[in-house]
Amino acid sequence: MTPPEIDPIQYDLTAALNQGAGLQPQQFEALIPRLEAARSEVLKDVELLRSPEKIPAEKEPLDARFIDFPAGLLAEYAASRTDSTVGKILAASERLAQTVDLVVVIGIGGSYLGAQSLFKACCHPFHNELSRERRRGRPRIHFAGYNLDNDATQDLLEFLRGESSKDPAFRWGIVVVSKSGGTLEPTLAFRHFFSALRESCGGDAGLLRRLVIPITGLSGELRRIAVGLGCESVFEVPDQIGGRFSILTACGLVPAAILGVDIVKLLEGARFMTEQFRRLNVRENPVLGYAGVCHLAEVHLGAEIRVMSVWCGALETLGYWYDQLLSESLGKDGRGATPLTTVNTRDLHSRGQQHQQGRHDKLITNVFVTRDRRAPLPIGTVSPDIGDLNKLAAKTMGDATHAALLGTNQAYRDAQRPTADLRLPRVDEASMGQVYQMLMLATCVEGRIIGVNPYGQPGVENYKRNMRSILGY
Ligand code: PA5
Repeated sequence: MTPPEIDPIQYDLTAALNQGAGLQPQQFEALIPRLEAARSEVLKDVELLRSPEKIPAEKEPLDARFIDFPAGLLAEYAASRTDSTVGKILAASERLAQTVDLVVVIGIGGSYLGAQSLFKACCHPFHNELSRERRRGRPRIHFAGYNLDNDATQDLLEFLRGESSKDPAFRWGIVVVSKSGGTLEPTLAFRHFFSALRESCGGDAGLLRRLVIPITGLSGELRRIAVGLGCESVFEVPDQIGGRFSILTACGLVPAAILGVDIVKLLEGARFMTEQFRRLNVRENPVLGYAGVCHLAEVHLGAEIRVMSVWCGALETLGYWYDQLLSESLGKDGRGATPLTTVNTRDLHSRGQQHQQGRHDKLITNVFVTRDRRAPLPIGTVSPDIGDLNKLAAKTMGDATHAALLGTNQAYRDAQRPTADLRLPRVDEASMGQVYQMLMLATCVEGRIIGVNPYGQPGVENYKRNMRSILGY
């Protein structure tokens, strides 16, 4: 079958390397052999997973399965439709979406940031405020279990109970995500939300089983509970895919499919990016270009803070997802850049000053979109002429954003602040699939270049252990 046409996202390597006193093209040229070696290593890691007995101790943990996973899911879906994982995700998500008006997604870290990013990027910004019809029949969505927040937890529970008492036909459901099945925050939340859901179902155990979708590893407490309850649909977080690399598994795909996001297009975008990564030479390769520029900026310019500067609100949570990906993957052994998300032009009025004139320790990567979701909003003519802008009537809000982007880049260039650009043709599933896969691959490439295993998070495990012993369990 011919793969679908994908409009590629573009990382502008040339602009990143031609900034006067910034990075020099020859520095990138000198890095090419190491980038090629890192690409080979990252791809060989996938092969190693096929013979686990050959995985050397220093490579453990090796969670590289995310690389081929989208292609595998799509091939299985093409071959066996309803019997495939994607087919089952689509069916279960559709069933829940048709049954409930609201879904609470419970999870923390890699078990919710992906779903949150997909929600914000691919759904209407006021999704939860719209009527069911305007939500295209999809449920509202709220997130829980990503914190230990006494007030927020009770406020959401109270809201759900209130909706049920206003309208006895109101139904809600739970998607609970935890690979280990034992993380305290989602476990605590699940206890409360599950009890409230059971109460709302009266004595109907069959209904309750349909309203909870657990997504978890093959063993652990959540798996045990899911089996005990007899939940109608349970999905697996595959072995060898860690939390922050799990957005394109059931962890991200189930909540996305419930919201009506086209998960097949998302996977096609990711598969396309993996192919580009394998195939394209270093200078044209978005993964290697991005990883190379980030590494060089850190080494040669001391840019230890990596600012993902997104130019539309829909991408803010992409930034938070990447914050976790980068910091948990490479922040080890006293190494690793510090990620930071900014949303422009909003944050030009809060962080812009520092980025322009503060310490020389930042690489700014603009992430912007060529085509907005909606038709261009003209500045137009109003009376009175607020802001004296009638003379710009034919220009649009998009023109103003573009002017701000160009103006900011120019100001940063003049102040010798390194910047790079990542362009998305639009914010849609195919572009987002590419971006997620690009950033996950780039993080692994960078890890292999600096000799840090991008997988696993030993520091987080320590905090969990300490917390458990302080709590006494
Ligand atoms: O990236 C990771 O692996 C972590 O951030 C986990 O996603 C997070 O700790 C949640 O773990 P779990 O899914 O086991 O509840």
